[in-house]
Amino acid sequence: MRLLPLLLSLLILSCEKLETVFIEEDLLERPPSKRCSDCHAQIFEEWKKSRHFHAWTSEQFRVESENYTKTKCLSCHAPHQVDPYKKPTLRVEFKEDGVSCVACHFKEETRAMHGPLKVWSPPHPSKQDFSYTKSNFCAGCHQETYKEWKLTKVEKTCQSCHMPSLGKRDLIQKFPFELFHLAKPRTSHEFPSLKAKPEDIKVELKGNKLILTNVGVPHNLPTADQGNPKLYVVAELEFEDGRRRTVRKLLSAQSKTALRYKEPKEIRLPKGNIVQAQVKIYRKLAWKKERELIKEVTLQTPSP
Ligand code: HEC
Ligand code: HEC
Ligand code: HEC
Ligand code: HEC
Ligand code: HEC
Repeated sequence: MRLLPLLLSLLILSCEKLETVFIEEDLLERPPSKRCSDCHAQIFEEWKKSRHFHAWTSEQFRVESENYTKTKCLSCHAPHQVDPYKKPTLRVEFKEDGVSCVACHFKEETRAMHGPLKVWSPPHPSKQDFSYTKSNFCAGCHQETYKEWKLTKVEKTCQSCHMPSLGKRDLIQKFPFELFHLAKPRTSHEFPSLKAKPEDIKVELKGNKLILTNVGVPHNLPTADQGNPKLYVVAELEFEDGRRRTVRKLLSAQSKTALRYKEPKEIRLPKGNIVQAQVKIYRKLAWKKERELIKEVTLQTPSP
């Protein structure tokens, strides 16, 4: 038992040393994300499912950037270093990695991995940095969406919706490091695009107007910087005299017709007394082929 204090002091002394013994120099040389998966295996698997991973290799991006020759298009799709508010510069190496781990976490200024937590990470220096939990971290690239969000004055951050909490989990899956660390708060690196809920869009029929209001998503619906996501509104109308008509309306960020947060949008309907309107709202994400139904509702004009 007398050995215990000795062992403890030895351990404490050696911790300082361990730090340098375990340091893996290449991690500070901006390796590809695959390298991070040696330890952060689960986070890597999530990120591979995200659009950030596809940002450079996306076929649509290749075509629209004219085979990577439109230089003004490139930097957000293969950034060197992400900082709050700043539009990034273009990365030189491993562009096919898109918005990569090092782009978001490695800082030239400190030559360390920055992140939201306080950690002991022998293989690479880490620095706790609360800018990771704020919306302006996303603002340098999601410029338009950030401006829209800011105007809503809603406090929920981009991360709280698009990097939802996974509860406490291990940050690393590698022996022996995993033995020295407790589970910590984890956030989803799939960066889900999410989908509006039916109650996020209010639909009203007032005379010959259909009124749509985005009451649930604190940025435009749809929102985009460069992509072209769309909402399709299909209203099947039934008139008092038995006539039927279908009205279709496309709403998009690029045509500046998106639904702004809490701002009612009117769609004019054909003349006549409408007795019933069956309204369907679909969305199409920029990178997806298919439409997905968000809401379906049948509205009746109250009889006078
Ligand atoms: C370096 C620039 C950059 C930063 C910083 C960035 N993103 Fe992105 N993000 C992109 C690009 C580029 C795409 C589009 C990739 C593609 O589909 O080709 C994207 C796509 C997305 C998508 C999917 C959108 C869709 O159309 O389905 C979500 C969600 C997202 N980002 C959330 C975030 C959040 C939240 C943050 C901040 C924590 C963030 N992003 C920070 C560049 C960035
Ligand atoms: C300021 C950063 C930034 C710049 C510069 C930029 N993009 Fe993007 N791009 C994004 C973000 C963020 C997204 C995610 C969806 C959205 O908000 O439009 C995106 C999404 C896209 C998408 C839809 C996703 C996909 O893979 O199909 C395409 C296509 C695209 N960008 C093409 C371009 C082209 C072409 C240019 C140059 C004209 C360009 N981008 C310049 C940030 C940028
Ligand atoms: C040899 C193992 C190993 C490799 C490879 C590795 N890390 Fe880590 N990393 C760690 C350990 C250990 C921790 C701390 C874990 C804990 O406290 O639970 C950590 C923590 C982190 C954190 C959290 C920092 C914070 O303050 O919130 C980030 C971010 C991070 N690593 C990024 C990276 C990136 C990016 C790469 C690839 C360039 C990478 N790591 C490669 C072992 C590794
Ligand atoms: C678009 C930028 C972006 C990319 C790409 C990205 N991260 Fe993160 N990461 C963040 C942000 C922002 C947080 C903090 C989220 C929060 O706490 O709200 C974070 C948190 C973390 C954490 C702390 C634990 C957790 O889950 O919150 C680790 C570790 C980490 N990232 C590692 C990685 C690794 C490894 C990769 C690549 C496989 C990666 N990140 C890719 C932005 C990014
Ligand atoms: C309260 C939750 C919430 C917050 C906060 C939030 N979003 Fe969203 N976001 C959503 C939902 C829900 C959707 C899906 C809309 C749909 O059905 O297409 C979405 C969609 C998106 C899309 C995909 C394009 C689209 O309109 O479908 C991008 C890009 C995006 N958000 C970026 C951001 C950024 C950047 C921030 C912070 C400035 C942010 N979001 C804040 C809930 C949120």
